[in-house]
Amino acid sequence: MEAAIEAQWLQALIAGLQSAQLALLRALHALGLVGDVHGQPAWPWAWRLSGDNLLIELGQALRLAAALAFVAVALLALAVAWAWRRGRWYLLAMLPLAAIAVPWPDASALRVPATPASFHLPPGPPTAAGVVRGQALYAQHCVQCHGTDGRGQGPQAASLAVLPPNLAGPLLWRRADGDLLWHLQHGLRDAQGRPTMPAFGDRLSDADAWALIDAMKAQAAGEMLRATGQWGRPVRLADAPVQCADGRTRLLSSWRGQRLRLVAADKGMQLPSEDPRLVTVRVRPGDGPVTEGCEARSPEAWQALALVAGTDSPAGLQFIVDRDGYLRARSSPTRSEWSDDDLLCRSDAPPTSAAASAAPADGLGALIARMDAQPVRFVKGGFIH
Ligand code: HEC
Repeated sequence: MEAAIEAQWLQALIAGLQSAQLALLRALHALGLVGDVHGQPAWPWAWRLSGDNLLIELGQALRLAAALAFVAVALLALAVAWAWRRGRWYLLAMLPLAAIAVPWPDASALRVPATPASFHLPPGPPTAAGVVRGQALYAQHCVQCHGTDGRGQGPQAASLAVLPPNLAGPLLWRRADGDLLWHLQHGLRDAQGRPTMPAFGDRLSDADAWALIDAMKAQAAGEMLRATGQWGRPVRLADAPVQCADGRTRLLSSWRGQRLRLVAADKGMQLPSEDPRLVTVRVRPGDGPVTEGCEARSPEAWQALALVAGTDSPAGLQFIVDRDGYLRARSSPTRSEWSDDDLLCRSDAPPTSAAASAAPADGLGALIARMDAQPVRFVKGGFIH
């Protein structure tokens, strides 16, 4: 199973299904055949194709790959038949026979219910300010059913016909972001059409709903870390403004492409020495002038970090962000040295032999080697990191 998840062709197939549908939607929109909903092109069908089930049913994935290969060969055969007079009838007669022999995938394994927002993309990567705003909205509108930790044990939960699901696990990553947006704005119903979760479209703007989604994911990351010591799902660094001692301001995301080390620096804390393999940025809760290096100084940056770390205060912790902007490692609160065990979001595959033979001597080097060797890949569809 693990090997199957890692298989390149399977990832390509799943990513391809997603991008082909998105391309189709964009083409329909460009032709004026579909309109907008919540600011983006509306998916016009009640179903969509999803690769997620292929991860569970490898047999279906093989069938789909065979079917696609057949379609490609059939197209080629048609082209050849058109040009090659003498072989034409022979080739054309082969096609229906081959079509019968091909193991077509089960439509029900590929088809999942869709909402008009299924292919909506978030307006941007999460920001610390958005996460904090989402947290406040959650406390205002959602906590009575979903509970402060998202496990679904709010005071009102027991009186509901359908219990709220556990939002403190991987559920939010299994859903398309756009479906989450749709469910928040339009509510949810059971099979008989009775409302199970209220709609918030009259109270929340789309920006509020996206902020809530980012906040719920950050909260779930923190809860997973508390429960299992791992993030288990890819966690994006929430962006925040940074002030540098030279007077310039920039965004945390402006270092995308480089590895970043965030140091949650409390007053009087000794700062780690610079390391050429990483850019170090301190995060502090208050504001005030920056005298050295670069700092994300804001209550929001601090609080967003506390949320993903599952602590009340991240003071003294360090985090490593990979080149793609994913938070990947948190320093151990008890050990001063890094090791590749600090990687909180990884595939369980051991490092490849090439990476292992070039293993650097120190713990941070080992961690970086493993992080770089296992980048976060296509994240919809149950990938573990
Ligand atoms: C009155 C209780 C109640 C309130 C208030 C409420 N929810 Fe829910 N929520 C539910 C129930 C019940 C379900 C499960 C519904 C179902 O599966 O049919 C649910 C499901 C969800 C889901 C899972 C959706 C999915 O795609 O499976 C998310 C996410 C969610 N709620 C977020 C929120 C957020 C965010 C708020 C606040 C803006 C909120 N809920 C407010 C009761 C509530």
